[in-house]
Amino acid sequence: MVDSNAPMFEIENLHASIEDKEILKGVNLTINKGEIHAIMGPNGSGKSTLANVLAGNPVYEVTEGSARFYGEDILELDPDVRAQLGIFLAFQYPTVIPGVSMANFLRMAVTNVRRARAEKSGDTTGGLAPREFRRLMKEKMKLLKMDESFATRYLNEGFSGGEKKRAEILQLALLEPSLAILDETDSGLDIDALRVVSDGVNALASPEMGFVLITHYQRLLNYIKPHFVHIMIEGRIVQSGGPELALELEAKGYEKLRAEFATPV
Ligand SMILES: Nc1ncnc2c1ncn2[C@@H]1O[C@H](COP(=O)(O)OP(=O)(O)OP(=O)(O)O)[C@@H](O)[C@H]1O
Ligand SMILES: [Mg+2]
Repeated sequence: MVDSNAPMFEIENLHASIEDKEILKGVNLTINKGEIHAIMGPNGSGKSTLANVLAGNPVYEVTEGSARFYGEDILELDPDVRAQLGIFLAFQYPTVIPGVSMANFLRMAVTNVRRARAEKSGDTTGGLAPREFRRLMKEKMKLLKMDESFATRYLNEGFSGGEKKRAEILQLALLEPSLAILDETDSGLDIDALRVVSDGVNALASPEMGFVLITHYQRLLNYIKPHFVHIMIEGRIVQSGGPELALELEAKGYEKLRAEFATPV
């Protein structure tokens, strides 16, 4: 059951493996509402694995630990149930759906989440009428400074890196989750795409919402001021601090930390 006194999101001693190879080796992280957290770390340290495990990707096996959303362990829940609870994971949705427009896809996603939330609180009407949805979408696109023609494009078909990010951020704006976890895996992201992500996060950040940004771009943090920065090395968060930690990394690199925290071979 959801416990409103518990922290919004609490990851405790999380271990996960793929094909018997342990990748996450005891991750601890607490996120309260209103907080923006950045997770940085060298290639292969387990950042995307963490995002995948939280999204419920069945390829990964959780072997120990928990991830609780207001006290409720989410690791056994289906990805769509996680979404209904108010957790947004950037890549839980199909990347290309030929013949489905942005607008239609978003309406389905939003309707599903809203209906489930409404049903939980005993309201059977739920959902969102098409006209109401269009109004909401226009409002969000204005907030995010997106062109209205974007809504009629087919989902991710021929989208540039920046447009994919725009679609993701628009989806985030419409779903209004309590917690958003964004994995900036695509090393091909140009500065425009980074701006889309950062402007979007800044426009949507509120005292009610928490963000986890997984990135190795110190550049992203020039545009978004996280409250906390965490460094992941070899499947553990080895250091946490404020924004200054990201700057320190930029200057010194990971070598010193790696030498200090890596398992000897
Ligand atoms: N599906 C998979 N199959 C096999 N090995 C995997 C898989 N996913 C992750 N791994 C391994 O787990 C380790 C951590 O990978 P992960 O993608 O989580 O790192 P990362 O911190 O996100 O790296 P990057 O900064 O390059 O995005 C790597 O050694 C990787 O090869
Ligand atoms: Mg990654």
